[in-house]
Amino acid sequence: MKAPNNPFVLTGYVSPEYFCNRQKELSWLESNYLNERNALLYSWRRMGKTALIRHFFRILEKDHGVETLYIDLMGAQSMPEAIKAITQAIHQRYGHSTSGISGNIGKLLSRLGMTVTFDPYSGFPKFSFGLTHLPPPEQSLDAIGEFLSKRKKSLVIAMDEFQQIGYFDDPAAEPVFRAWMQGFPGLRFVYSGSQRNMMRAMFTEQNRPFYKSVQILELNSIPEKEYFPFIRGHFTAAGKPIEEELLNEIYAWSRGQTYAIQLVCNKLFGLADNPRKESLQQVFSEIIEQEKPVFANYARLLTRNQWEVLKAIALSEPATNPQSKEFLQNHRLGAASSVATALKTLIKKELVIEENDSYLLHDVLLANWLRQNP
Ligand SMILES: Nc1ncnc2c1ncn2[C@@H]1O[C@H](COP(=O)(O)OP(=O)(O)O)[C@@H](O)[C@H]1O
Ligand SMILES: [Mg+2]
Repeated sequence: MKAPNNPFVLTGYVSPEYFCNRQKELSWLESNYLNERNALLYSWRRMGKTALIRHFFRILEKDHGVETLYIDLMGAQSMPEAIKAITQAIHQRYGHSTSGISGNIGKLLSRLGMTVTFDPYSGFPKFSFGLTHLPPPEQSLDAIGEFLSKRKKSLVIAMDEFQQIGYFDDPAAEPVFRAWMQGFPGLRFVYSGSQRNMMRAMFTEQNRPFYKSVQILELNSIPEKEYFPFIRGHFTAAGKPIEEELLNEIYAWSRGQTYAIQLVCNKLFGLADNPRKESLQQVFSEIIEQEKPVFANYARLLTRNQWEVLKAIALSEPATNPQSKEFLQNHRLGAASSVATALKTLIKKELVIEENDSYLLHDVLLANWLRQNP
């Protein structure tokens, strides 16, 4: 594989060299696999769940001779769409044979009432349900489970963005997926989700189907003592020494969010042979400038009141008492009750994070922009 020109990777996963640490989490995943336990990984967005799963899967395939199947549920809005996403992943993983689509997959598709066509330009497969009949989801998952259980090697399945099933209209989504996991004890599942509150509720509330059914781990920031040597190492290897002070500044500005750290380092690496404070400032400005259209969009989607509250929180991160008299006065906000209402919506929309009675913006870049443009 060709080495990337920039060691700070921004999309997906390249190889262990460009992946920072996560040793504890990896051992946890590995031990769950070895002891036949299913697992849930959750965190805020952009902390590194997907990259960790990719890294873990590489280790499983290389060191344990295990097969892996990665399913992304991000776009799925309903059970049929989830089943489509699973089928797509299976097709991508197992569908390639010299005669086009492999026989077993053909059979599976017909059991699912699905057909596949290929885009004439890109050659990408497109799955659709036949018009005649759509088997109930549990039946489809059964067929898929049977297909996967017939693999000769053991199989680990990642269900990424699993919070999506919590948004489906279908109240049977959770019990059906739980039953699927239970029905195929030979398959190993790693669930991963980024709506933190929803994932916690789904897997830890007593009356929910997934209650106590899996091991749970929250993915936090990579600690400075692990991230700094990684960053310094890549800069130094390229003949670009970087000082501790800059590393501190990068970590603080990014608030420990993996994506933001990678983004800043990627830009700084590309910009300067001898990174200094000024080059770092330039990188911060560039990043914020680039994201402006996204921020403008947020402003359009929120009411004036919600936007003002969002701004106030960004300015006082972590905001501890947003309904106090002092906070309302400092930020020229209206009544405490209207702030409470706005806050509730912002949390629900995942724009604001509530953690130990303090409030942060989910989007680190937006928070930095709002602080620069109060
Ligand atoms: N341990 C790591 N070392 C280096 N880069 C990482 C690491 N974990 C994640 N990244 C990078 O951070 C960004 C966000 O990670 P991602 O896995 O997409 O987060 P999530 O799935 O939690 O939203 C990606 O650009 C990814 O390449
Ligand atoms: Mg992800």
